[in-house]
Amino acid sequence: MEESTQPDQPVIEIKDLHKSFGDLHVLRGVDLVLNKGENVVVLGRSGTGKSVLIKIIVALLKQDKGSCVVLGEEVSTLNEKELRNLRLKIGFSFQNSALYDSMTVRENLEFPLVRNVANLTRAEINEQIESVLDAVGLLQTINQVPSELSGGQRKRIGIARTLILKPEIMLYDEPTAGLDPITCLEINQLINEVKEKYHTSSIIITHDLTCARETGDRIAMLFDGQFLKQGTFEEVFDTDEERIKSFYDYNFIQ
Ligand SMILES: Nc1ncnc2c1ncn2[C@@H]1O[C@H](COP(=O)(O)OP(=O)(O)O)[C@@H](O)[C@H]1O
Ligand SMILES: [Mg+2]
Repeated sequence: MEESTQPDQPVIEIKDLHKSFGDLHVLRGVDLVLNKGENVVVLGRSGTGKSVLIKIIVALLKQDKGSCVVLGEEVSTLNEKELRNLRLKIGFSFQNSALYDSMTVRENLEFPLVRNVANLTRAEINEQIESVLDAVGLLQTINQVPSELSGGQRKRIGIARTLILKPEIMLYDEPTAGLDPITCLEINQLINEVKEKYHTSSIIITHDLTCARETGDRIAMLFDGQFLKQGTFEEVFDTDEERIKSFYDYNFIQ
């Protein structure tokens, strides 16, 4: 039986999160909930602490104050072994997550699989690689190397590489950065397909308003270290708040 979406079951709960680097107080009391089956977009200008936030979620950085509970566990208290187990349930597609250039697409996908899942047969490995490539629409590239693919295709393979471990949570850091407008639309569509096919809950970090509108069930606007407003795209941008209006105008004029 297929699992139904449970909208109010939190998979990530962040409360009053603070993070500074020396005198730079980047996060100043961030509150955010990601519910099961939801796509939440974190919008904000460059340098506002979006990447810092997702690094805290996967415990690559530690908060100074506040709590960050992921799949029921406070990440800052986990030991290395517990962290490894938690990270297996989180797929992160970081800004510059590169593929191995000397490996084929098949080998790039096989690598995380055999490294993290014990005792798979050759047939199971092949089946999982083909299934995830099919899901991102790139089965035909299986024997190619990354340099033969377009930027958008490489991005898709990067996403496939995280999906192959069947994560419960996906974290996308600037998924459309540096891509042309048509490819951006394809990636937005893929993010939505991943949610449907893999039943993931996702945080999508971006300053791309089209990406936010297309993929976000909910948008959270980061300003000066706090979420200024959260809601649907329309709820967030139908406002007289000057900082939100200027963000909208600036980003859609570009
Ligand atoms: N490890 C670090 N050490 C010092 N400063 C950092 C570190 N990581 C991020 N910063 C600073 O924190 C601010 C927010 O960074 P970041 O989260 O990467 O912004 P963005 O919203 O563009 O993703 C920036 O000013 C950045 O220089
Ligand atoms: Mg960033």
